[in-house]
Amino acid sequence: MEQTPGRLAGPPLTPRTAVIWSVLRAELERRADTALTVLDVGGGTGGFAVPLAQAGHRVTVVDASPDALAALTRRAAEAGVAERVRAVQGDGDALAGLVEAGSADLVLCHAVLEVVDDPAAVVAALAAALRPGGAASVLVAGRAAAVLGRAMNGHLDLAATLAADPAGTAGTRDTLRRRYDADDAAALLGAAGLVVEEIHGVRVLADLLPAAVADGQPAALVELERALAAQAPWRDLAAQLHLFARRP
Ligand SMILES: C[S@@+](CC[C@H](N)C(=O)[O-])C[C@H]1O[C@@H](n2cnc3c(N)ncnc32)[C@H](O)[C@@H]1O
Repeated sequence: MEQTPGRLAGPPLTPRTAVIWSVLRAELERRADTALTVLDVGGGTGGFAVPLAQAGHRVTVVDASPDALAALTRRAAEAGVAERVRAVQGDGDALAGLVEAGSADLVLCHAVLEVVDDPAAVVAALAAALRPGGAASVLVAGRAAAVLGRAMNGHLDLAATLAADPAGTAGTRDTLRRRYDADDAAALLGAAGLVVEEIHGVRVLADLLPAAVADGQPAALVELERALAAQAPWRDLAAQLHLFARRP
C-alpha cells in the first residue's frame, strides 16, 4: 500500500547538509501529500536517499560503485525503508537505459559532476529523466574556495595553478576533474534546458574554521552557514555550490 508522505524525519543538519535540506524541504512541502519519484544520481551510500524514503518518497539511486550501493542497501534496510529504495549500478550519462524518461519528480546529483567524464552528458540525462515541472538539486565543487584553501594551507603554487586553470583543478594530482563558479554551473544546467531557480553556497565557513570552533559551536555554525548561503560575496566563496533548477 502506498504510504502518504510525511515530513522529513529530521535528517541530521550539519554545515554540509543544512542549506541543501532547507531548499529540498521547500520543494517537498510544495508537493505535500504526494509520494514523489526521486532519482539520486551518484547517490552513494544514501545520505539523502534514505531520509527521503523515510519521508515516504520512492528513491532510485544510480551509482557507479557496487560498494556504495551495498552500503546504501544496508542503510535503507536498517532504516526500515528497503521497499522504497532501489539501488541501480550504472553510469550517470546512461540514465536513459536505466530509468524511464520524464518520470522523476526530483533528481539529485550531488558531488558528481566534478568527477564524471562528461558533465554535460550527465546533466542532459538528468533533465531527460525529469517530468515537465520536475526539479533538479545539483551540488558542485566551488572553484574560489579551492584556491583559498590551497593558499591558506601554504600551497601557493597549487593555489596559483588552480586559479589559472580553466577547469579549476590544481594539476594532475587533484582528486577532482573540474570545479565551478556559479555562472559556469548555471550555464551547464541551462544548456540542458533546466531553469535555475536558486543558487546557494554550501560550507562557506565550515572548512575555514579551526576544528575547535566548528566542533564546539555546531548549531551556531549551521545558523551562520544558512544566513550566508545566498548572500554575496559569501555564496561564491563556498566549498560547494548548490543549484536548484526546474524542467519547464
Ligand atoms: C563524492 S561521492 C557523492 C555521494 C553523494 N551524492 C553525496 O553527496 O554524499 C560521488 C559518487 O558518485 C559516484 N559516481 C562517480 N562517477 C559516476 C558516474 N559516472 N555515474 C554514476 N555515479 C558516479 C561515486 O561512486 C560516488 O558514490
